[in-house]
Amino acid sequence: MLKSAVKRFGILTSGGDCPGLNAAIRGVAKAASGVFGMEIVGISNGYRGLIDGDARELSPDDFSGILTRGGTILGSSREKPFKEPDSDVKKDSEAGQDKPELIKENVSRLGLDALVVLGGNGTNTTAYLLAKEGLNVIGLPKTIDNDIWGTDVTFGFHSAVDIATESIDRLHSTAHSHNRVMVIELMGHKAGWLALYAGVAGGGDVILIPEIPYDAAAVARDIERRRSEGKQFSIVVVAEGAMSKDEAAMPKKERKRLRERMPYPSIGYRVAAEIQSATGMETRVTVLGYLQRGGTPSPYDRVLATSFGTAAAELLARGRFGRMVAMKDASVSSVPLSEVADRTKTIPFNHHMLDTARLVGTCFGDESL
Ligand code: F6P
Repeated sequence: MLKSAVKRFGILTSGGDCPGLNAAIRGVAKAASGVFGMEIVGISNGYRGLIDGDARELSPDDFSGILTRGGTILGSSREKPFKEPDSDVKKDSEAGQDKPELIKENVSRLGLDALVVLGGNGTNTTAYLLAKEGLNVIGLPKTIDNDIWGTDVTFGFHSAVDIATESIDRLHSTAHSHNRVMVIELMGHKAGWLALYAGVAGGGDVILIPEIPYDAAAVARDIERRRSEGKQFSIVVVAEGAMSKDEAAMPKKERKRLRERMPYPSIGYRVAAEIQSATGMETRVTVLGYLQRGGTPSPYDRVLATSFGTAAAELLARGRFGRMVAMKDASVSSVPLSEVADRTKTIPFNHHMLDTARLVGTCFGDESL
């Protein structure tokens, strides 16, 4: 066995699940136990399990045969032990005891030298706050949204792109048969990476993302232009966080209120109604929902999650805490959690994929002819 700074650590998955979590758990665990001889404690249901002390020792049988399995063998929750930044109280409490204190007690009771947390923005922000409380924490970036600061890519993203692209392909053929406009709504509240990549991969005619507020008239004009060129159908890919130019100009609270009162179940339905009323074309909506997060990881994500997992084990062994494993310029490295916390990686306006999409004629709803 190689020398290791950590003898025993806890591992948890927190936030929305995604394909590749089990592959990453397996990567961490195989390297940590097989190469460095560490003991591993699996914590159930994210930070919730750390607060409740719900944990059990993992043996090699637990992390064998899980590479291709969707979801997470550890369970997940959206528990956030620290209050939101805009709250006056910084630490949440339970039965009179603050949750970070409960976590610290359980970490010590379980004899853990360190924690490995697999999650998105919220999870890695909590990881940073726990590190500030004196715990040894390492983060791993997972999410289908690909919106974690400090890494070029997160695991789960490419599997979701594959699923969404296949769905767009299937909509294409039926849109063509019926001369319809097909709106497909994909996940992505704050960032439109999934809509952009699946939209480009599936040849979406219109892609609406939170980073580029849209003008409903510009979208309708583009669909009519296609019709005048003999293309009787269109595919419109909408991220769930897409917003109109008017909404983007509003203060956040007002926009939220407006959305709550919107007479549509979600943004995809509103975009479809806007298109149908402006063009008179029959328009249908598909909301892909949780299908995007389920099932087996793609080969790309299996490889990425395995490399991220093994990199986390190496960070543990070297005692390099307070960091998140990351992909930077095609190499696996790590970044300080302090740089990741409270940030979101949205699509920059000069991103090459936006240029690519525009060069093949994709409309982002921002053109005023
Ligand atoms: O995992 C991120 C995400 O998929 C978002 O894109 C989506 O809005 C959110 O999770 C919804 O998840 P839940 O309903 O589990 O909170």
